[in-house]
This record gives sequence, C-alpha cells and structure tokens, in this order.
Amino acid sequence: MHLFSGSSHPALAAALAAELGIPLGRVSLKKFSCGEHYVKFEQSVRGQDVYLLQTGSQKPNEDIVELFLMCQAARLSFARSIHVILPHFPYARQDRVTEPREPISAKLIAHLLEESGADHVITLEMHSDQIQGFFSIPADALSSRTIFTEYFRSKKLKHPVVVAPDVGGAKRAKKLADTLGAELAILHKTRPAHQTAEIQQVVGDIAGKTCILYDDLIDTAGTLLSAKKALLAQGANADVYAAATHGVFSGPAVERLTAAGFAEIVVTDSIPNDPAAFPGLKILPIAPLLARVLRNVEEGKSVTDIYKK
Ligand code: R5P
Repeated sequence: MHLFSGSSHPALAAALAAELGIPLGRVSLKKFSCGEHYVKFEQSVRGQDVYLLQTGSQKPNEDIVELFLMCQAARLSFARSIHVILPHFPYARQDRVTEPREPISAKLIAHLLEESGADHVITLEMHSDQIQGFFSIPADALSSRTIFTEYFRSKKLKHPVVVAPDVGGAKRAKKLADTLGAELAILHKTRPAHQTAEIQQVVGDIAGKTCILYDDLIDTAGTLLSAKKALLAQGANADVYAAATHGVFSGPAVERLTAAGFAEIVVTDSIPNDPAAFPGLKILPIAPLLARVLRNVEEGKSVTDIYKK
C-alpha cells in the first residue's frame, strides 16, 4: 500500500500513516505564482496500489483541484489502482436541483474524480446517500456513527434524545439514536435565504431531556443556533450537545459557537481545526477507522462490517 497526502490535512495524513505503520509517500505539491497547482510523485507508482488522502477543508476549491491533479498524475504514471480517501466530500450539499437553474455540484465532483483517474472513492458521512449513485466507480460511503456512539455512551447522559436538525438528516439521527438506545426527535428547518436557517417545528418529545443535535456538518452554525433555540423553547434541558462529522466552521461559526453555550460541540478531525478554537469543542479522531477500512480494502475483506457495527 502506498499512501500519499494532498496538502489539505497533514495531521490526519500523519495519523493515518502511523495507524497503518507505513511511511507517507513522497509527492511534491507546489503552486505556480498565478495560483495554479503543481503535483509530482517523487517516487515510482508504476504497478502499485496508490491511496490518495485529501479532504475538503476550509479551502475546498484548492483541495479538490489538487486532488484531481494527484489522481491524473498517478494514472499517467501507470499506478495499478487509485483509491481516493476523501473524508469530507466537498460540494456535497448541492445533491439535487432544489430551485430552477441550479447545478448538481456533488454529481459534477463525482464525475471529475472519475475523469481524473480514480478507481475507488472512500468518503465519510456523505451529506446524502444518493451521492453514491453519482459514481460509476465503487464508492465506500463510511459512517462515523460508531465514533459518536462510543463517545456519547461514555458520557452516560440521562434521558438522551438524538435530534435531526432537518428532515434530510432524520435517517442518520435515527441510526445514532438506535445504537445509543436514545429517543429521536426531528426538526423542521427552512432556509428563507442562502445560508440562513429557521426551525419551524420540533417533532418528538424533548421536554426535560438531554438533546444531542446530530448533523453531517457544521458550516456557519446557523442551523445549530436556531435548533438550540427551538429545543429550549420546547423545554429541553439546558445542556444541549451538538455532534457533527465535519467541522467546517466558516464565517461567523467560531464567534457564534463561542457565545452559544452548548454543553459540547463534538466533531471528528475529518477537517483540520484548532481544538482550542472555542470553548466546548471536542475533536474525535478518524484515523483508526480509516486505517481499518484501508487494511480491509487491501486484503479484499468487507468494509461494511467495520462501520456498520
Ligand atoms: C444541511 O442540509 C446540512 O446538513 C447542515 O445542516 C448545514 O449545511 C449546516 O450549515 P450551517 O452550519 O451553515 O447552518
């Protein structure tokens, strides 16, 4: 196995290489003065199984272009197979046309990855299941549920309720609720304007209970703020937890979450973040899960068995 990392998340690459007990492959990642990316493998990949790690960080456009170039460079250098590990799949939220004259950007990214030479994509907690269908190559859409289950079990919360912040996230929240033995509530969210979230209704019994808002990602944190307000208005315990796989934390997110007073905001390290970015931030590692998946891929064993338990 030969693992190479793009420039999006060096700490995750180092953690994954350490879990696997292999060195990271040598690759030059540079930029032309105009901003164009330049990529060159500094060792032969001919006839090898190549694993490329890149994540959609807070600079998704840079990350994805660099990844396309890494894929194509590996393809043109006679790699035997190219496995892309893309924990946070950028542009995933636009997975359908919700209003006239919009693109389906998740589908475009999937096509461009294939066109670049990827044979297989491994991603974590995709925004929606249908994105898997945008690929004609195999796509392993891993779930981070086991990571959050372990964490919240250890907290031994009284009367926990897992809350989906919108109807689209209901299935994901139900699965976490089931594995935690918790109840489920679903919020009805509308977006009156771009990147503005309003919670219209709480479906489920949350009065006097400890809510865990569970989402795929936190971007500006508008959804979380609005959700917390709605939950408290309906009598939820003051200690509200938030959990999401991908902590994008763009724009006003850090300021908002500093002031919001969540009991904890728990994310994975699928995106690089400073653990001291705001009070209550807890970051859980994904390298152990990724390493188990990669080992099984390499040995031709089931991947589903790892993250569906
Ligand atoms: C939307 O459908 C997603 O699942 C997240 O709820 C959303 O993207 C979070 O964005 P923000 O933090 O900006 O409200």
